[in-house]
Amino acid sequence: MTERIAAEIARLSEEIRRHEWLYYVAVAPELPDAEFDRLMKRLEALEAEHPSLVAPDSPTRRVGGGISDGMATIEHAIPMLSLDNSYDESELADFEVRARRILGDQELDYVCELKIDGVAVSLLYEDGVYVRGATRGDGRVGERITDNLRTIRSIPLRLRADAPGVLEVRGEVYMPRDSLDMVNVQRDEAGEPPFANPRNAAAGSVRLQDAAQTASRPLDVFIYSIAENGNPRAETHAKTLQLMAEWGFRTNPEARVVATIDDVVAYCHEWTEKRPKLPYEIDGVVVKVNALAQQRELGSTAKSPRWAISYKFPATQAMTVVREIQAQVGRTGVLTPRATLEPVELDGVTISHATLHNADEVARKDIRVGDTVTLERAGGVIPAVIAVVMGRRPADAEPFAMPSACPSCGASVTRIADEAATRCVNPGCLAQLHRRLEHFASRKALDIDGLGTSVAQLLVDAGMVRDLSDAYSLDVSALAELDGMAEPSAQGLARSIAASKDSDPARLLHAIGVPFVGANIAELLVDEFGSIDAIAGASAEALEAVHGIGARVAASVVGFFAADANRRVLDAMRRCGVRMARESAQVETTDALAGETFVLTGEMPTLTRADATEKIKAAGGRVTGSVSGKTSYVVAGANAGSKLTRAQELGVTVLGEDALLELLRAE
Ligand code: IVH
Repeated sequence: MTERIAAEIARLSEEIRRHEWLYYVAVAPELPDAEFDRLMKRLEALEAEHPSLVAPDSPTRRVGGGISDGMATIEHAIPMLSLDNSYDESELADFEVRARRILGDQELDYVCELKIDGVAVSLLYEDGVYVRGATRGDGRVGERITDNLRTIRSIPLRLRADAPGVLEVRGEVYMPRDSLDMVNVQRDEAGEPPFANPRNAAAGSVRLQDAAQTASRPLDVFIYSIAENGNPRAETHAKTLQLMAEWGFRTNPEARVVATIDDVVAYCHEWTEKRPKLPYEIDGVVVKVNALAQQRELGSTAKSPRWAISYKFPATQAMTVVREIQAQVGRTGVLTPRATLEPVELDGVTISHATLHNADEVARKDIRVGDTVTLERAGGVIPAVIAVVMGRRPADAEPFAMPSACPSCGASVTRIADEAATRCVNPGCLAQLHRRLEHFASRKALDIDGLGTSVAQLLVDAGMVRDLSDAYSLDVSALAELDGMAEPSAQGLARSIAASKDSDPARLLHAIGVPFVGANIAELLVDEFGSIDAIAGASAEALEAVHGIGARVAASVVGFFAADANRRVLDAMRRCGVRMARESAQVETTDALAGETFVLTGEMPTLTRADATEKIKAAGGRVTGSVSGKTSYVVAGANAGSKLTRAQELGVTVLGEDALLELLRAE
């Protein structure tokens, strides 16, 4: 029986691996998504029923549950060097001259590759199985991020049969342009600062504490080299790239072998032009001597190889003058300095404002009103002030100081320890209220048609909205009296406000503006807890037990619902008929499991975590977030992470879904 199941698991895993490669690496999918999902579900179900048969490289193990292996460090057996930079044709020519000094007049060709703007990683395979992933770190010691990298679909967890027994490859993890835009919109909605460029986005994402969070970041990889000491399988770098692709790695399709430095220069010019058309960011070209024997002959300095050089694109920059710096109040009260600029064109877009992020950043760059500054569209998206042109500073330019009072309400502001943020903590601040109301009604929140930024401002200015719940007690005739609001639009607005009362509670949770709770997190929480009340009453531990919720979000949710003012707003909304819960069946309660403590981890074949929690609670049991000696049972499903390991270490009884259901029946 077990053998038959093991064989079925192996067959399914192999098939899924092949389709993953076709989809993510070869970009030539053969299977409709739904079929692929069906294979995956089948494998997950089998593994959940037979946890002992789950292989470490199973395709289901990408989204590891719980906290990853943290920031343990590893030493790179072969250091991860960096590259010397060049900026123009003459520096590229110098590179050849230096190489020729050592190689004489040997025949010499080069591989030109795109320099991907992301974060360097090392991947280790033993017997074809992915066993370790690491960051570059300082080149000698990197951070172990095995589980986080496992979540990237184009990283193979098992290689084709003819790959070397032990293999370390290196490459660049990056976030595609579109994905970065999307992630930044989500971060903005969650009240988090956007990533300034794709490199920060990739570096931040691979180093997250929780692999489930990395899984939610759209990352991809290009592998560009093998780390090896002697005995290479190939004679040239070009052949290495080809072999790696054959073993299942995603290599960049634009690499090109060229014969002369003139061809190298042409490749650099070509990609300077074509760069904006790529779906990912590149910041230059990497030029590598093709023959591996010549690479060995050239060797490396302590910092960088003599057989490679990077050509850096000129950054698209513009110069302009800072007209004004104003502190803007966000919906959580954070004051953000923002520069108003003499309008200037950069990459075809007219830029007249740039965020300066926070007071520390302004001080570090010493940006003052009247200064001439250089601007860059970082990552092609957000305009950023790079530096001040000191030679053009007017004699009377004063350093910028963050206001000591809120520019909107005049209350004094506080500087948050450990954060670079300055915050207006006046709960009655109207600028914050305006931003909160705008967010409340926004498309991804309650999607209230007719309640955009200007109407939100009118309502706040007229004193008709003093807290978010007031939106539900506005009357049409008062609305119609607002400046510029005709009777039909007032009626339309009243209708869309009324309609929003029946929105899904996940939208409501997102709308009320709990710091760090964006649309996705809100959905996760409501999926698990079913209602705003259950979330408001949950402990940080219980919140953190939800797959995808980290300590910071949990603390923020607890803090938000601990505030009387927030509870009062929600109570007022409830009285106005706003829906606070998803429908759920009434459950009969007993105390059969009284005194028993459960921890849930991984995904069960049929029960959601909310179902399981509900059933355990209905039987009088308790569900907590972390495993300790006091835990009675750990219920483990597919992708169970560190909690399962901990249970095994402590000798806590581990149950599968079937055993849990049996226990619930028996009691
Ligand atoms: S080869 C010995 N090839 O650029 C160094 N690097 O300073 C070998 N990078 O962070 C690096 N694209 O991760 C190489 N096609 C490419 C690359 C590339 C991006 C990054 C690399 C490192 C930096 C080099």
